[in-house]
Amino acid sequence: MALKKKSSKPASALSRRDFLMTSAAFSATALVSGCATTPKRSNGIVIVPPGGTPDKLRVGLIGCGGRGTGAARNCVQSSANVEIVAMGDLFQDRLDSSKKSLLEKVPDKINVTDERMFTGFDNYQGVLACDLDMVILATPPHFRPQHLQAAIEAGKHVFMEKPVAVDPVGIRSVIASSRAAGRKGLGIVAGTQRRHQPHYLEVMKRIHDGAIGEIVAAQCYWNQGKLWVKPQKPEWSDMEWQCRNWLYFCWLSGDHIVEQHVHNLDVVNWALKAHPRRVMGLGGRQVRTGPEFGNIFDHFAIEYQYPRGVRVFSSCRQIHGCSDRVSERIVGTKGVVRTDSRNAVIEGENPWKFETQGESVNPYVQEHADLIAGIRSGEPLNEGVRIAHSTLTAIMGRMSAYTGRELKWDWARDSSELDLTPAAYSFGDLPVVEVPTPGVTKLV
Ligand SMILES: NC(=O)c1ccc[n+]([C@@H]2O[C@H](COP(=O)([O-])OP(=O)(O)OC[C@H]3O[C@@H](n4cnc5c(N)ncnc54)[C@H](O)[C@@H]3O)[C@@H](O)[C@H]2O)c1
Repeated sequence: MALKKKSSKPASALSRRDFLMTSAAFSATALVSGCATTPKRSNGIVIVPPGGTPDKLRVGLIGCGGRGTGAARNCVQSSANVEIVAMGDLFQDRLDSSKKSLLEKVPDKINVTDERMFTGFDNYQGVLACDLDMVILATPPHFRPQHLQAAIEAGKHVFMEKPVAVDPVGIRSVIASSRAAGRKGLGIVAGTQRRHQPHYLEVMKRIHDGAIGEIVAAQCYWNQGKLWVKPQKPEWSDMEWQCRNWLYFCWLSGDHIVEQHVHNLDVVNWALKAHPRRVMGLGGRQVRTGPEFGNIFDHFAIEYQYPRGVRVFSSCRQIHGCSDRVSERIVGTKGVVRTDSRNAVIEGENPWKFETQGESVNPYVQEHADLIAGIRSGEPLNEGVRIAHSTLTAIMGRMSAYTGRELKWDWARDSSELDLTPAAYSFGDLPVVEVPTPGVTKLV
């Protein structure tokens, strides 16, 4: 599909971005000086006072699957005057079903004409060429570094789903793009919704204020049963099948330790205010051995070494018929914290249990509300480096389990040349990379 050209405008006119930035800068200054009680005019533009209707935020969606469609809905529901105006996906059927679902659920927030719908590997370029303020990146994680770089270069604020890369080369790209976003005043929020959930926010404040003393150890888990799988169809090329069945190909998902368990590892990094220094782990493929399960493992058990001798045990499993556990446990000299997606508890010298105050918060909506409030206040959040570090924490666990080797953070972050990108993005043959064997698979 042809890319839509941006409309040209007189040099003297402020762009919508200038307007948003001007209005944001004004409100930040005005809030500091305490004088933002009446609308002001700047270059002929009405600046909206706090409490007034904000300027419309135009949002694009790249990756229109389950989470992308959900994130688009959460985004438009999170804040006033937000509209989805462009959409892109690799496949027409996913694009169409996403738009249909959005039109059913939030019809007055969807303004996506046929000219602003894009497919194929270059769909993101079409979306980013539209008149947008912000973009949601929700493809399989492999594409995140490329799409984030393009979004920041195009001057868009970003909401991006976790994880944000599948290899160290991708992580370095995300870190560079996040720093570029900071220099340009662009916001980035990652889909680690626990960071925007009241009980996690409250318990982290307590941990950091010393409620459990000095942290000496932690454990985290994502142990669950099976997930969806899409066996190959004769009409699909290898590339199409792998992209549709992306969970099971390491180059696309990073394996489930990266794709899913990153949530729990992110909580541990948050509690410890650190990332690991060294990693050693085990894993294997015990049950999901058929070709439909590509080349990923079905279980991992990893030991992470953090500063001050703190050891963290992590385990994740996707095997049906076993005990499920998705949670974190932080151990301090004065107590223990237990968290999961619903609650937080402290046991020990300063016992505490989270009590909901008022209406419960939907963290999938709140993360968008926080991003948009930051954009509109002129102080956008930038979670890019933080989520890159949590993603690298998970990638290092996988690299150690795949190779049987212990590895160090600095080497993985700065020197590892592991890059899982295929030779070409084209719909044709793409042999499945061998399942890794510890002791044989090389650490690169
Ligand atoms: N925060 C959370 O709790 C949460 C929950 C679920 C998924 N996720 C994350 O969201 C992302 C998407 O997961 P999902 O469950 O929506 O998967 P999905 O398979 O439902 O959707 C992925 C979509 O991306 C499309 N796609 C693939 N390659 C693309 C490309 N190059 N350009 C554009 N579109 C492309 C696919 O066709 C599909 O429509 C993943 O990173 C996943 O880890 C996060």
